[in-house]
Amino acid sequence: MKIYFAPLEGITYHIFRNAYNSIYGNIDKYFSPFISPAEKCPITPRERKDIIPENNAGLCLVPQILTCRSDYFIAAAKELHAMGYTELNLNLGCPSGTVCAKGKGAGFLADTSALQSFLDDIYSYAASDNMKISLKTRLGYSDPDEFYVLMDLFNSYPVSELIIHPRIRSDFYKGEPRREYFAYALEHSKCPLVYNGNIFTCQDYDELSDQFGTALDPIMSGRGLIADPSLAGKLKGLETETDFVKLRRLHDTLYHEYQKIMSPDINVLYKMRELWTYWQPLFDGSARDIKNLLKAKRYADYEAIAYRLLSDKA
Ligand SMILES: Cc1cc2nc3c(=O)[nH]c(=O)nc-3n(C[C@H](O)[C@H](O)[C@H](O)COP(=O)(O)O)c2cc1C
Repeated sequence: MKIYFAPLEGITYHIFRNAYNSIYGNIDKYFSPFISPAEKCPITPRERKDIIPENNAGLCLVPQILTCRSDYFIAAAKELHAMGYTELNLNLGCPSGTVCAKGKGAGFLADTSALQSFLDDIYSYAASDNMKISLKTRLGYSDPDEFYVLMDLFNSYPVSELIIHPRIRSDFYKGEPRREYFAYALEHSKCPLVYNGNIFTCQDYDELSDQFGTALDPIMSGRGLIADPSLAGKLKGLETETDFVKLRRLHDTLYHEYQKIMSPDINVLYKMRELWTYWQPLFDGSARDIKNLLKAKRYADYEAIAYRLLSDKA
């Protein structure tokens, strides 16, 4: 089974990817959080630093682009091609209000004729530059039945992989994914499919697998892999329990690496505290400690709690 690490803006940048990959592995592809090209600036220096192959050695990375302008997409794609990338991903799922208001992300799904001419442009570029382009999409903007038209549209391009997060924009990341539409895609898609959404445990995967069988491969997971970084190993049958020694290593690596590049201290703590909101369920019975940890404003306060929680489990 292949497992893809979903892009999570704010979290899965190169420091996280490298730390995760060296400690846990078991990921077949990582997708970068989106690059947002602008006029005359296809890729910012900060985005470039995250993407350059030197900062992603030994892992399979697919850069993701968020735009509704085919000329911007192609300008960024050419730069990525020059860096050595042969596969890119288009974001058709971001539900954020500011992104959708500009007709990007999930907002692009609302205008299928604009999307069609955009896809015409980027896939003819792709053919000329030997570039693979995958799509990461929701079912639609305001109604899941929009997916029927979108499926036909996607079928008319050489989409290298179609990653489906079976929700609409207004679902954001809440509620149950609308699995029946993934079943429809399995019947009608001409492109290889990837399922994404709410795989937090092996049981979640087993339920999906009962419904979709061997077609459920590859899968993409985001929040589930953050919340339990051992999940990929568990899904692949290589680990049976959450490995807290590895979690401690992941924690320490990220904490030290973020300290090297971020200031003031509180910014490092914001990053770490965000991770702890995902890790919280692994520390059942420590609600009060976690509450204090999520309020920590100084390294000393943070470390006293974080190291105790991690040592108790390891
Ligand atoms: C904090 C956060 C940031 C995200 N950033 C991105 C992003 O940059 N690009 C993208 O395609 N999806 C992004 N997503 C969506 C995830 O990639 C994924 O599709 C979603 O979380 C559902 O999968 P999951 O249930 O496995 O987490 C983000 C989601 C969250 C919660």
